[in-house]
Amino acid sequence: MGLHSWYSEQVFPWILERVGGPQSHALRARCVAGARGDVLEIGLGTGQSLKSYGADVRSLAVVEPSTGMHALARKRLDACAFETQAHELGAECLPFDDDTFDAVVCTWTLCSVQEPNTVLSELHRVLKRGGRFHFLEHVRSDKPKVLAWQKRIDPLQRVFACGCTLTRDTEALIRASGFEVDRLEAIDCPDMPPPHPKLYPLILGVGRKS
Ligand SMILES: C[S@@+](CC[C@H](N)C(=O)[O-])C[C@H]1O[C@@H](n2cnc3c(N)ncnc32)[C@H](O)[C@@H]1O
Repeated sequence: MGLHSWYSEQVFPWILERVGGPQSHALRARCVAGARGDVLEIGLGTGQSLKSYGADVRSLAVVEPSTGMHALARKRLDACAFETQAHELGAECLPFDDDTFDAVVCTWTLCSVQEPNTVLSELHRVLKRGGRFHFLEHVRSDKPKVLAWQKRIDPLQRVFACGCTLTRDTEALIRASGFEVDRLEAIDCPDMPPPHPKLYPLILGVGRKS
């Protein structure tokens, strides 16, 4: 195992399990709690979202490319009260038919995928008409000083957070991919990770495939 894969498969899942505090965990729980029916979550990470799914979930498919993340998520997947199906792959090419899911979920994942437009168009494709897209993401700041810092830190962020970028305008990408955005909150969360919480302005929202 090379240094890069040792870091991304062993160290980064361990870090991800420990970053964030009660307020960021509560936001993830809010995002997930609205999902119902047959649900797809992409970028599951270590599975910290799983305990927040409600009784209205019938089945959950998860897509996550990292073996190290799957290893930490396994027990949480096994403990779910609904049927689960885990796929070790990226969300750029989803192994599901068109119009399969009632809801799709992603928390802090669109910052890390290499091809966000492709992923969003896949999410749109596999969602049923009228289905909901629940998202919680950190995004490019609209404050010039903060954005300047995001740009300075970004090269390091990409290395130490395994491809995560601070400067992506994810709201614009979501709208451009065909989702109607029904709800959107902009949130500054004080317990986001180093180097500084202000580098992670959040959007929490629900999109719809019309
Ligand atoms: C910052 S973590 C967030 C994990 C989790 N959603 C959470 O809230 O804790 C980003 C996750 O996206 C995953 N990821 C990276 N590229 C991906 C891709 N192309 N498709 C799906 N997931 C991806 C990473 O492996 C990682 O687990």
